[in-house]
Amino acid sequence: MPRTWYSRNMYKKYTAKNYSLKKDTGLSQKQIDIHLGLYQGYVTQYNSLIDTLEECKKNNHTKAFSECNRRINFELAGIKNHELYFDALTEEGVSIKKESEVYQDIIAQYGTYEAFIAHVKQMALTRGIGWVLCVHDQPAKAIHVLWVADHELGGIALPAFLAVDMWEHAFLIDYTPAEKGTYIDTYLSHIKVW
Ligand SMILES: [Fe+2]
Repeated sequence: MPRTWYSRNMYKKYTAKNYSLKKDTGLSQKQIDIHLGLYQGYVTQYNSLIDTLEECKKNNHTKAFSECNRRINFELAGIKNHELYFDALTEEGVSIKKESEVYQDIIAQYGTYEAFIAHVKQMALTRGIGWVLCVHDQPAKAIHVLWVADHELGGIALPAFLAVDMWEHAFLIDYTPAEKGTYIDTYLSHIKVW
């Protein structure tokens, strides 16, 4: 039987990663626990929305279906952005290898890795609540440092390689708004370049 648009299995459910972060993250256990709880909440919400979508389709609730599709993008971005963020705080970490195309394109565009990081920090400091998402447009050999204020408004079909969470839940227990710069420096120091 041919698959139609309302077939089941159109969506994949996610399982939250069981993170074990390294000891010297610069963030307290309380801060980390709250943040990981929010990440797990995105996974729960996403999986629940899939079930709601199935119900909407079955019952032809088009308005609810439309709203679910907006939210599903929000929750999915919440999962993937947080995974990139927390991956960098594990022992394995997130690496930008010097022989990689992304590193070469960073250098071609910014001159130095430090200049790239300065751009990331400047955006993180000056835009308020949201994300700084660094993506690599490989065919164009371009690096984009993007501000994502709301998850579903910042989706882009390019691989992200760095994500700085600037929502206050990410740092406010440990760092005041005036100390955002220290939080940003601490987080970015975990990105391995080799
Ligand atoms: Fe967050």
